Amino acid sequence: MGSATLTGRGRRRLLGGHPWIYADDVQAAEAEPGALVVVLAPDGGRLGWALFSSKSRIALRMVSRAPEEPGQELWRARARAAVAHRRAFGLLGPRDACRLLFGDADGFPGLVVDRYADALVLQSGCQGSDRHRDAWLAALEEALELPMTSVLDRSDSSTRAHEELEKRVEWLRGERHEPLEVHEAERPGAPALVYEVSLSEGHKTGHYLDQRENRAFAARFASGARVLDAFSYDGLFGIRAALAGASEILCIDQSQEALERALRNAERNGVAGKLRTAKANAMHDLRARFEAGERYGLVVVDPPAFARSRREVEGALRGYRELNRRALGLLEPEGVLVSASCSHNVARGEFLDALGGASLDEGRAARIFRFTGAAPDHPVLATLPESEYLKCAFVRA
Ligand SMILES: C[S@@+](CC[C@H](N)C(=O)[O-])C[C@H]1O[C@@H](n2cnc3c(N)ncnc32)[C@H](O)[C@@H]1O
Repeated sequence: MGSATLTGRGRRRLLGGHPWIYADDVQAAEAEPGALVVVLAPDGGRLGWALFSSKSRIALRMVSRAPEEPGQELWRARARAAVAHRRAFGLLGPRDACRLLFGDADGFPGLVVDRYADALVLQSGCQGSDRHRDAWLAALEEALELPMTSVLDRSDSSTRAHEELEKRVEWLRGERHEPLEVHEAERPGAPALVYEVSLSEGHKTGHYLDQRENRAFAARFASGARVLDAFSYDGLFGIRAALAGASEILCIDQSQEALERALRNAERNGVAGKLRTAKANAMHDLRARFEAGERYGLVVVDPPAFARSRREVEGALRGYRELNRRALGLLEPEGVLVSASCSHNVARGEFLDALGGASLDEGRAARIFRFTGAAPDHPVLATLPESEYLKCAFVRA
């Protein structure tokens, strides 16, 4: 069994609740990459158990603060708790999709697992999750009690470089190449919905599961409205709006593949007649449409992360301000803007400031009436605020 001894500062950080200990706060470590280690205070007292990384700035990711060594029974208990949480939201229907494990928040540092119908897609982000992948997956599948035909390891995030890990995309079981269909079950306020997912080629693990609830809420403002779904990806904000009675939908994205998927999804849901697509840089296209006099009752702007690091935040905030100014300009009087940011480096307050700036620039009194985050299958660990990333404002203006 390996061990890691903290500095005094590392010990204080750990006792303050944060689950990550930086390399500077570890005075000595003896362990293999990714191994479970016992964490020791400077005086040798035991503080708990963590996964060790030999390369990352994050040297230790806490797994447990209990005296006993974590083993398969702990992973099984955590997997059962994670599955029960998703079941409570009705997300385990036979052909449905959800995020089953979300890293530290579910007690599996570095590992994300999404389920799409009978397939699992996992992403491992650190040495510890690579090393424990198979044991954790076994615990999850046992807890899930639903037969999974396919399992794809899609560990292709660039953040793996911080751990000196190669990117990896490999089928662990049941290789398939055709897109699969997800059937979102009917839930209060949201009719059933069908969409396709390409597990190996789609964004993230194939789809943006985190916006599920925000799409359903946005659809409340769609009845009779012209809807602009900017940065639409596979069109699900727009399709939810169409199902709720929108008169027409325009999906804008720079990815032709995403737009083709959006059109096929519209077809699947019987709303193809209402949905058009435009392949464009949305920043430019929104301005052109404003100048052409187009106006919409519901506008959604859900861009990719503008800030990949704290250093990029200032520029990102200018970008959010300008984008939202353009979006507000396209809104009919008393229309609804749904504005999202998935930059985890941008804090909620900073994003609100950018929205305030946009409202000032555009001369529209913007009233935020709901401010949410990711769907509940993407929990945030209270002692790890860095894991909060998605912000979604619903604005009447
Ligand atoms: C966060 S995702 C959108 C998710 C989508 N709204 C949903 O509900 O699933 C961002 C999308 O923006 C697209 N994109 C990135 N930069 C763009 C740009 N400059 N103009 C238009 N689309 C862009 C990407 O192709 C991607 O589909």
